[in-house]
Amino acid sequence: MKVNQAEFIISAVGPSQYPDDALPEIALAGRSNVGKSSLINRMINRKNLARTSSQPGKTQTLNYYKINQDLYFVDLPGYGYARVSKTQREQWGKFIENYLLNREPLKLVMQLIDLRHPPTKDDQAMYEWLRHHGVPVIVVTTKADKIPKSKWQKHAKVVRETLGMDKGEQPLLFSSELGLGKDELWDLIEKRIGF
Ligand code: GTP
Ligand code: MG
Repeated sequence: MKVNQAEFIISAVGPSQYPDDALPEIALAGRSNVGKSSLINRMINRKNLARTSSQPGKTQTLNYYKINQDLYFVDLPGYGYARVSKTQREQWGKFIENYLLNREPLKLVMQLIDLRHPPTKDDQAMYEWLRHHGVPVIVVTTKADKIPKSKWQKHAKVVRETLGMDKGEQPLLFSSELGLGKDELWDLIEKRIGF
C-alpha cells in the first residue's frame, strides 16, 4: 500500500465516537510497551503520529488513525499493565471485548508479541480468546532488532508453540526500528480487506 495520507482521527472512549464511514478497521492488540504505536508509525512512515512512550500504559483509549481513504488502524490500550486498579482493568476488558466482538468494520486483529520473550499468560489468554470467538488474528513479533538475527527463528518457534498456533502458521517478524516485516504486513492487510 502506498500511504499518501495518514491522520489521527479520534481517541474514542465508546461506540458513539467510532467513525461511521464503514471503512475497514485493523486493530492492534498487545501488552503495554510491546510496540503498537511504533508499528503504526513505521507502517505509515511517520516518526510520531501515533504517540510512543517508554512509560507503559499510556494509551487508554481506542485511537483511530485513518490511512488514505482506505482503512483505519485502531490502536487498542495495552493489556497486562499491572499499575491500574482491578476495577479499571475490568472496565477496560468490557470495552475492548465489546469492540472486538461487535464492531462490524473490524477485519483483522494484529496481536503483537515481543520476540525477545515467550508470550506471557496475558498474551496466551488474548490469543485463545480471539481464536475462540472467531476473530481473525495474525501474530506479529516485535523488536526483532533487539536480538541477533541468528536467534529469530528459535524465538519465533517459542512464540508459535506457546500460543498454540496452527501448524504451518508463522508469526510475522517485525522491527519498527529496521522496517523489517513492513511490506509483508501490508500485503497481509491488503489481502484481508480485499485490495
Ligand atoms: P502502550 O501505548 O503503552 O500500550 O505501548 P505501545 O505498545 O504503543 O509501545 P510503543 O510503540 O510506545 O513502544 C514502547 C517502547 O518500545 C518505545 O520506547 C519504543 O521506542 C520501543 N520500541 C517499539 N518498537 C520497537 C522496535 O521494533 N525496536 C526497538 N528497538 N524498540 C522498539
Ligand atoms: Mg501506544
